Amino acid sequence: MNEQNKTVIITGGASGIGKSLAFCFGKKGDEIVIGDVEERALDGAIAELESKGISSTGMLLDVSDGDSFKSFANEVFSKFSPPYVLCLNAGVGAGGSISESSILDWEWVLGVNLWGVINGLNAFLPELERNNQGHLIFTSSIAGHLSYPNMGPYNASKHAVLTIAETLHFELLEKGSEVGVSVLCPGLVKTNILDSDRNRPEALTSRNTLDNYRDEDMRKQMVREIYDLAIHPDQVAELVFKAVDANQFYIFTDNTFDDAIKNRHRNIETATNPTLTADLVEEHLND
Ligand SMILES: NC(=O)c1ccc[n+]([C@@H]2O[C@H](COP(=O)([O-])OP(=O)(O)OC[C@H]3O[C@@H](n4cnc5c(N)ncnc54)[C@H](O)[C@@H]3O)[C@@H](O)[C@H]2O)c1
Repeated sequence: MNEQNKTVIITGGASGIGKSLAFCFGKKGDEIVIGDVEERALDGAIAELESKGISSTGMLLDVSDGDSFKSFANEVFSKFSPPYVLCLNAGVGAGGSISESSILDWEWVLGVNLWGVINGLNAFLPELERNNQGHLIFTSSIAGHLSYPNMGPYNASKHAVLTIAETLHFELLEKGSEVGVSVLCPGLVKTNILDSDRNRPEALTSRNTLDNYRDEDMRKQMVREIYDLAIHPDQVAELVFKAVDANQFYIFTDNTFDDAIKNRHRNIETATNPTLTADLVEEHLND
């Protein structure tokens, strides 16, 4: 990889984990390019980065729109040195049981979390492979390893992102490519994800969605109550930085969900019907 003027591209870098990634890589001297759909937060993040002497550019990007991603990538290719790290990080969270979820809920969550990754690969992977350098960071989640109830579309999107990352890892290895892949699987992180609706397009919001908001508010309140288990996004960013350096594939952020993941793997190995463990989150709520 180039030792100078490395370009780090982060989708969803105007907030939360993406913004911490921008600061972390930026402080090490990299050139930061953020693509985000939320214009005001994007301008704010760029101003903060610049005020710390970090060279950064913000571009409006809707990751769920393939054309938007293509234009974003073309601008990056024309203005910056070859991509060094690409963080496909933009994501939204939504709750509700599968029977309550409308088609619009599925379209919105899968549009951003899954199609956002597919569109990103379509726009950037050929260039990374042609240059035979760079590192892709896919943001999945602990939800990509587990199937907690009332998070159907989110779980589906994150399981899909995990398997895309694993598949690409094998394919690049087979080709002898120098392009690296990691999958970030955060547990609970203190960000603005519970307010993801702020970026939900009106066209993907139904009356049904609005009626569900009351339940959604209760669910968010419950999650906020366990937020003291959540870690700061800067900690996540440091782990990602080290993982790129070490070419480490799986990036877990803490061990809160280890038993739950082991339990799921045991159920699969023994073909036992799925069970949920009483994990740290539950214990915490019962305290
Ligand atoms: N916070 C957590 O506990 C947690 C846990 C596991 C995984 N994650 C994942 O981390 C990633 C970052 O989320 P976060 O927690 O920092 O939340 P966040 O809401 O703070 O940041 C998400 C960013 O994505 C942007 N975004 C939303 N829709 C977009 C679109 N269509 N196009 C471009 N940008 C868009 C938002 O504007 C925002 O800047 C997501 O993929 C999320 O699923 C978060």
